Amino acid sequence: MPIETLDIPELAETLAGNHPREILKFAFEKYSPAIGLSFSGAEDVALIDMAAKTGAKFSVFSLDTGRLHAETYQFIEKVREHYGIPVEVFFPRPEAVEKLVREKGLFSFYREGHKECCGIRKVEPLKRALATLDAWVTGQRRDQSPGTRSAVPVIQPDPTFSAPGRELVKFNPLANWTSSQVWDYIRENQVPHNPLHERGFISIGCEPCTRAILPGEHERAGRWWWEDATKKECGLHAGNLDSQP
Ligand code: ADX
Ligand code: SF4
Repeated sequence: MPIETLDIPELAETLAGNHPREILKFAFEKYSPAIGLSFSGAEDVALIDMAAKTGAKFSVFSLDTGRLHAETYQFIEKVREHYGIPVEVFFPRPEAVEKLVREKGLFSFYREGHKECCGIRKVEPLKRALATLDAWVTGQRRDQSPGTRSAVPVIQPDPTFSAPGRELVKFNPLANWTSSQVWDYIRENQVPHNPLHERGFISIGCEPCTRAILPGEHERAGRWWWEDATKKECGLHAGNLDSQP
């Protein structure tokens, strides 16, 4: 159903208190098959479990930046086998990665910030993943980043990847859940998890840009730790930066 026929802000309010599984059910009813669940290989696996339990047919995609941890690759494979679902993997354009590495080396993000590398390795592949979809689902939560995600609604017009004449809907079913609720769900439902979580990793992205955190640190402190905390979005959710007061 095209976005114009749904009142998204009103729906966001109506659905806000619903269980994420119900939000997923609604999303699939409205948009299947033109909807994709984006899976980073971290605790957003809870959404895959919930999606499987809706009984709906759904598709999952991951962005393989080429810089993920070995554990994350193994985990994505484990999820594929455990749920018996295909996980479509999008790679960056080789020419763009080759040019970046030729000109700036393999670790330019430490010197120049992560924007250019994320643009090539994550954002451009995401655009291709979204090109055939009317809606996508993410594992974003408000508590992940008080600096950038505190206003994330459970459903929104995608502020970054919608285009005139092609509006895209973004579902964030976990927006109002806390990290503890997600982890309770994972434990109670015996959902497989990335073994990096057992080694102090909370938020998991690319290997060179993610580190384990210490007790009491915020989970986002483990991502792009050399950069300003208010800019810790890689472009997939860049619209969050505009929606901050
Ligand atoms: S990021 O923008 O900082 O990298 P984060 O790791 O918090 O994002 O993940 C938030 C959500 O973005 C995930 O739950 C997932 O929906 C999506 N996402 C992030 N990284 C990927 C990835 N590599 N592949 C697919 N989806 C991703
Ligand atoms: Fe590149 Fe780091 Fe962004 Fe991964 S998170 S795409 S390695 S800058």
